[in-house]
Amino acid sequence: MSTPKDFNDRMLSLGLARVAEQAAIASAKLIGHGDEKAADQAAVNAMREQLNKLDIKGVVVIGEGERDEAPMLYIGEEVGTGEGPGVDIALDPLEGTTLTAKDMPNALTVIAMGPRGSMLHAPDVYMDKLVIGPGYAEDTVTLDMSPSERVAALAAARGCEASDITVCILERPRHEEMIAEVRSTGAAIRLITDGDVAGAMHCAEPGLTGIDMYMGSGGAPEGVLAAAALKCMGGQMYGKLLFRNEDEKGRARKAGITDFDKVYTRDEMVTDHVIFAATGVTNGSILPGIKREPGWITTETILMRSKTGSVRRVSYRNPFN
Ligand code: FBP
Repeated sequence: MSTPKDFNDRMLSLGLARVAEQAAIASAKLIGHGDEKAADQAAVNAMREQLNKLDIKGVVVIGEGERDEAPMLYIGEEVGTGEGPGVDIALDPLEGTTLTAKDMPNALTVIAMGPRGSMLHAPDVYMDKLVIGPGYAEDTVTLDMSPSERVAALAAARGCEASDITVCILERPRHEEMIAEVRSTGAAIRLITDGDVAGAMHCAEPGLTGIDMYMGSGGAPEGVLAAAALKCMGGQMYGKLLFRNEDEKGRARKAGITDFDKVYTRDEMVTDHVIFAATGVTNGSILPGIKREPGWITTETILMRSKTGSVRRVSYRNPFN
């Protein structure tokens, strides 16, 4: 698919950084206060307010939920001034609400934007995910392989021992067998309690984060956001939607999905060039969190364009009461 001419992503990307920054700043006063809902709401309000200042005809395709569940930034909500290019938007105003409430690492505000039709309209179901960083042959690891086969294949491709590989996995009872199997290979595991967008992004910069591979199931909307980030940073990703009941299949049908067994590659989840911004809320391996000093607040945002592979890190310091 070719990128429509009016998708002026160079300028839009700067606006997108402000959207992510403002959502993070809004949630800052709620870090460590034990109130997930309040932290999320503050980020949602700020993200929506900033998005509505951008000269776009935007439609939220990955958002806070379906219209009847989410008062703001719901799937299908139109955002922007209505002037400018038609774009699809995937967002998570606060990825890691519990991490924020408990002041634990790797909470982010996340947003991706692309031309209409550029991102999979993933329903709010689980997705089985597998991610590795850039520089490997296609299909070095696949969802068909067992966890131990994936570790062996990645170690062979890297020319190292299994014990040199670190895998990131969400700590959940549903992952107990996977964790045990990965441990049996000698590989290390970084367990995370939440925040698998950051978990997947970690694979794109193994030198910085120490993580080589991400695997396990998490939210499908977060899967599409991770695919957008990886399209900019490089790296492979596979995702398969997981359905627990007919209601979840119905949600998928509503989103236009008919093949319930499909394994999506990164470029099938994000089919055209996108721009992606994330701001650190709490400290993490990929982004520092918000820094609060008397009278000042400082944020760091990663801002990326898949068309050029450019990665900007924007530090923003502002007087703050
Ligand atoms: P929230 O920020 O909405 O709380 O999501 C956090 C998260 O950990 C995601 O990163 C992940 O994809 C999903 O929840 C995992 O879902 P579950 O907690 O049901 O295993």
